[in-house]
Amino acid sequence: MYNKAGGCVREGVAAAADPGVSAGSAEGPAIEASGLVGRYGSTVALDGLDVHAERGEVLGLLGHNGAGKTTLVRILGCLLLPHAGEARVLGRDIRDPAARREIRRRIGVLPQDPGLYDRLTAAENLFSHGLLYGLSGPTLARRVDGLLELVGLQGVRRSQVGTFSGGMKKRLAIARALVNDPELVFLDEPTTNLDPEAAHAVHGHIVALAAQGGRTVVLCTHNLNEAERLCRRVVILRQGREVASGSPQELERRFRGARRAEITVRSLDEAALKAVRSAPGVAGVEVAGPKCLRLELAGEGGLPAAVAALVAAGAEVTRAVDVQPTLEDVYLRLASGGDAGPDGEPWPGGGPGSGWGGSAGRGGGGRR
Ligand SMILES: Nc1ncnc2c1ncn2[C@@H]1O[C@H](COP(=O)(O)OP(=O)(O)O)[C@@H](O)[C@H]1O
Ligand SMILES: [Mg+2]
Repeated sequence: MYNKAGGCVREGVAAAADPGVSAGSAEGPAIEASGLVGRYGSTVALDGLDVHAERGEVLGLLGHNGAGKTTLVRILGCLLLPHAGEARVLGRDIRDPAARREIRRRIGVLPQDPGLYDRLTAAENLFSHGLLYGLSGPTLARRVDGLLELVGLQGVRRSQVGTFSGGMKKRLAIARALVNDPELVFLDEPTTNLDPEAAHAVHGHIVALAAQGGRTVVLCTHNLNEAERLCRRVVILRQGREVASGSPQELERRFRGARRAEITVRSLDEAALKAVRSAPGVAGVEVAGPKCLRLELAGEGGLPAAVAALVAAGAEVTRAVDVQPTLEDVYLRLASGGDAGPDGEPWPGGGPGSGWGGSAGRGGGGRR
């Protein structure tokens, strides 16, 4: 089922409307995939990826442009067939044609470019999408009302979508992705290109939809605050492979590297510097300014020991802080092909420039 160039074959979305297909098993995780490979011609977009999402969790897919996030959504959303690998979505095999129709019926997708009908009103966009899923009459009317309410667009339900701001369009597109009351929702960069206020509103809607009983959400994003705030677990992708996964807190702990601290003193002299350098638990000291020291700590007690040593040497300490790594630090290191893994080990597969990304001339900065 691949085209001549070796690319994945796209299937019609309209096939989603197939009310005759059974609801299937509700058992098992929302997503269970192993060894997924997806190529566009000679470009390898997914390179043997394993992904797992429990029911009811919000899973974040983090990675720079070209990392493979959208391709993964297209494969798990049954719009493309993988070149290799296995996946079950909502307990159903993505290679089985009947299961693919069923999966499409039971999931919702907010594509990166939502492609709404500009000449239709907000409500008409939702109605027309609902009809594709075989919904009609009062059921569809109630669904549309509820969704417009959820995303705060009831007041403009009769306005043409062409007059909407980017943020309003994204909110409407989120509502559209929910029209079939899906068990699993893919949101592909829901806040990219939105101003902070609009992004904040969209975050609120994502929190609301994730809170609705048992729904699983897969969120593709570059936005670290978004991932930290919304996701129970994140997978960091680079060049179609996972480079790390876990809860944001776990990743921060695991990839924290050396612990660091910063101390500011009223004035710094040789005696104070000598004292802090020999304090227990202090592995390194860098003079970062006339009053500022950056420390590398070897253990938990390093910072209090450093402060005590400075005070004993007559220095007046005005500020002392533990510098905690954030998910952003971890992400920037891993997603860009940072040179060290946990405990300073080199990454398997090499650093920046290794692998297929650059060879096809598209790599990271290519299309999204
Ligand atoms: N339709 C396409 N045709 C050719 N190459 C594509 C197409 N879609 C994606 N790619 C390439 O596949 C790789 C992964 O892209 P994508 O899945 O869109 O990543 P992301 O969503 O993380 O930005 C990139 O190198 C990209 O240029
Ligand atoms: Mg993308």
